[in-house]
Amino acid sequence: MKIAVAGVGYVGLVTGTCFAELGNDVTCIDISEDKIKNLNKNIIPIYEPGLKELVIRNREEKRLIFTTNLEKAIKESDIIFICVGTPPKENGEADLSYVENVARTIAKVMDAYKLIVEKSTVPVDTGHKIAKSIMEDNPHKVDFDVVSNPEFLREGSAINDFLHPDRIVIGCESERAKNLMKELYASFEAPIIFTDIKSAEIIKHASNSFLATKISFINAIANICERVGADVEKIADGIGLDKRINRSFLDAGIGYGGFCFPKDTEAFIKISEKFGYDFKLLKAVQEINISQRKYFVKKVERALSSVNNKTIGILGLAFKPNTDDMRFAPSIEIIAMLQGKGCKIKVYDPEAMQKAKYILKNVIYCNNPYDAAKNADAIVILTEWNEFKELNFKKIKSVIKNALIIDGRNIYNPEEIKKQGFKYVSIGRKDVGVF
Ligand code: UGA
Repeated sequence: MKIAVAGVGYVGLVTGTCFAELGNDVTCIDISEDKIKNLNKNIIPIYEPGLKELVIRNREEKRLIFTTNLEKAIKESDIIFICVGTPPKENGEADLSYVENVARTIAKVMDAYKLIVEKSTVPVDTGHKIAKSIMEDNPHKVDFDVVSNPEFLREGSAINDFLHPDRIVIGCESERAKNLMKELYASFEAPIIFTDIKSAEIIKHASNSFLATKISFINAIANICERVGADVEKIADGIGLDKRINRSFLDAGIGYGGFCFPKDTEAFIKISEKFGYDFKLLKAVQEINISQRKYFVKKVERALSSVNNKTIGILGLAFKPNTDDMRFAPSIEIIAMLQGKGCKIKVYDPEAMQKAKYILKNVIYCNNPYDAAKNADAIVILTEWNEFKELNFKKIKSVIKNALIIDGRNIYNPEEIKKQGFKYVSIGRKDVGVF
């Protein structure tokens, strides 16, 4: 099928590339000339395992084109995916201006039937608004359908999530649209849920909000564990084996970050408010997430008596492993809080250093974990990269000033770390060797 993908951000690039990989002719469009120029030289703007290889292969086989010419791409395609950003506005609502711009351009140039697929995360009712604005400004009076087809891609495993999804959600309100979407996804084995457009839009916000709720729930449990001397990991296993609960997204830590959960929970609260519902549960989820970071900084202070004039080696900056994404990363706030208390910060991340340099000021960037640990009063783990799970502790011990690890992601077994001669503080588990 001939597909246009408007917006070459995370979602657009993965979606376009994977549809090309499945044999479709895909044109990806973005307003950023630099981004398109780079993609045409196989320079990928994000770090996503496996993506570069797929882009190169599909460009070589002429199934994947990158351009800034939206009008031409719309005319030449049967299906147009809207994958542009919906960043948060000052008031927390999603900014839909990029979505609206694409919709207006589609309306102006389309001269034959088009299927318009909304893939950007949008508040409920956006699909109908898109349809309305296209209808109002449709000079060629051609037929079209709008469909909501939310994405559930996780950064770091986006290709696999796209090609092997748990489910495909399609909100559509015409047989023609339904049949085209069925054809597009014919090679997938996952169940397809057909709904109305509004329900599909809510499925996206509800999924992310529910996952964020699981994380805040387990972080709340971690707080109780620390007070009574229980082990949050065991509790997550104990409740997670109940199929109705499920173990995933029950890893206690420093709270969720990234460009999706913080933005989508906020947008969901706002849209609920707009329709007259006070989403108190989700507000509590946000509150727990914010206080988890503050609480973590207190733990660091407690372990070091005071952080003033101390040096900490931070391991991990990205909001999670296998990505270089620093957007809304918990590390940003935690580092700022520590610096505010007079702490000197050294940092290392396997992939996110370049992006971090635009955000983190007055920190020392190190080439590896051992440089970050050198002469430090403690190591603080903020992202659970595999590299950190396999540290050479002897080497760390030989360079660090004070053998103390404060782990915001629970990546080590406390007893093992103790054997290596470290004091160890983690989340929702007993501290080892401290006081
Ligand atoms: C999330 C969803 O998982 C995807 O399904 C969705 O498509 C995507 O948002 C989106 O809306 O585009 P992503 O933001 O890539 O994906 O990251 P997650 O793997 O969900 O992690 C989000 C945050 O939660 C990270 O900061 C992570 O460290 C944290 N987390 C996750 C925990 O603290 N504990 C857990 O048990 C799991």
